[in-house]
Amino acid sequence: MKGKTVSESRVILTQLMGPSQANTMGNVHGGMIMKLCDEAGGMAAVKFARRTSVTVTVDSMSFYSPVHIGNLVTVKAEVTWAGRTSMETRVVVTAENVLTGEVTHTNTAYFVYVALDENGRATSVPALICETEEERTRCERAAQRQAARLEQRRREKS
Ligand SMILES: CC(C)(COP(=O)(O)OP(=O)(O)OC[C@H]1O[C@@H](n2cnc3c(N)ncnc32)[C@H](O)[C@@H]1OP(=O)(O)O)[C@@H](O)C(=O)NCCC(=O)NCCS
Repeated sequence: MKGKTVSESRVILTQLMGPSQANTMGNVHGGMIMKLCDEAGGMAAVKFARRTSVTVTVDSMSFYSPVHIGNLVTVKAEVTWAGRTSMETRVVVTAENVLTGEVTHTNTAYFVYVALDENGRATSVPALICETEEERTRCERAAQRQAARLEQRRREKS
C-alpha cells in the first residue's frame, strides 16, 4: 500500500460556541470540546486510511483555560503515527475572542483510531510519511506513547 504524508491527513474544524454549549459556570462544557476533538481526530484518521475508523483510546485530556460562549473554537488534527491497523492523531484546540483577536491554546490531546473493513474488522492502513523534522520527532514520541498504551492494556487485561 502506498504511504501517506502527515499533511494528507490534516483536518481543521471551526465552530462558534453558542449558549446551548454552556456549562453551569456559563463557559463551554468540557464534554463539548472533547466531542469536537474526537470528531476532528476521527476525520484525520479517515482521511489518512480512507476507511471508517473507530476510537480505540484517548490519552488524558487537560484544559489549560476555559472556552467562553461567543469564542470561535478551532480544532486542528493530524495523524502522528501509523501502525498496522491503528493510527495516533494529535488534536490541538484554540479559542479565539473574535472581538479582540486574542487566541488561547485550550488543550492538546492524542486519540488512537483503528481502521475497519466492510465487515467491521481491523484493516491495514498506509505507512506514515514524515516530511519534516518536527513530524519525525512527533512520530517517534507517538511510537513511545503507543508502546506505553499497549503495556497498560496488557496490565489491565492480566
Ligand atoms: C477497535 C477494534 C475493532 C479492534 O479490535 P481487535 O481487532 O480485536 O483489536 P486488536 O487487538 O487486533 O487491535 C487493533 C489495533 O488497535 C490497537 N489497539 C488496541 N487497543 C489499543 C489501546 N488500548 N491503545 C492503543 N492501541 C490499541 C492494536 O495495537 C492494534 O494496532 P496495530 O494493528 O496497528 O498493531 C475493537 O476493539 C472495537 O470495536 N472497539 C470499539 C470501538 C468503538 O466502538 N469506539 C467508540 C466509538 S467510535
